[in-house]
Amino acid sequence: MFPEIDRELIGADEIAARVGELANLIARDVREDLAQEGGDATDGGRVVLVPIMSGALVFTADLIRRLPLKLSLELLAVSSYPGKSLKTRGAALASELTADLSGKHVIIIDDILDSGGTLKLVRELLGARRPATLRAAVLLEKTGIARVKAPPGGVFAEYVGFRIPDEFVVGYGLDFDGHYRNLPAIATLRPTGAR
Ligand code: IMP
Ligand code: MG
Repeated sequence: MFPEIDRELIGADEIAARVGELANLIARDVREDLAQEGGDATDGGRVVLVPIMSGALVFTADLIRRLPLKLSLELLAVSSYPGKSLKTRGAALASELTADLSGKHVIIIDDILDSGGTLKLVRELLGARRPATLRAAVLLEKTGIARVKAPPGGVFAEYVGFRIPDEFVVGYGLDFDGHYRNLPAIATLRPTGAR
């Protein structure tokens, strides 16, 4: 699809299968929460998914269609990789957070857990809104890297699709300088000199 793409790490079919599994895990946990409160998956409208734009766009679109829950979406924008940088420069909120999350079951959705700065920031911000539960789902988690100090509660993400080595990846929503989000698979880029 693009000559700059080097190696496919995770194919589209494998992603689709795993997204289905993650949806089952999430639905099971949320149903348990709702049942404990005497409700069920179709009532209340108390489930709120918070996708972190724009990286979580494709993952979220696939995930919500596998979730048989009454849910709403609250999009959040966080910038952490400005322009062509491959190293994180910390996370900053780039959109307003207006939704009332108190008493809701909130699930943050992101594409990838890298340094953890993004999820730590978002968990702290959303946690302060007094949700009934707060969890996070990421499609990818980079392994073997230094993370920021863990957020309150000690975990960055309760649901992880795939653990990958510390390489810069694109596709399925993940970008380099705004591009390659539309690639159906997760892949690495050729080093700039070799393109
Ligand atoms: P963190 O704040 O360092 O955990 O980085 C998380 C954010 O950085 C993700 O939401 C992505 O937008 C971006 N990111 C981290 N690693 C990659 C990558 O390998 N490719 C594309 N984007 C990445
Ligand atoms: Mg992101």
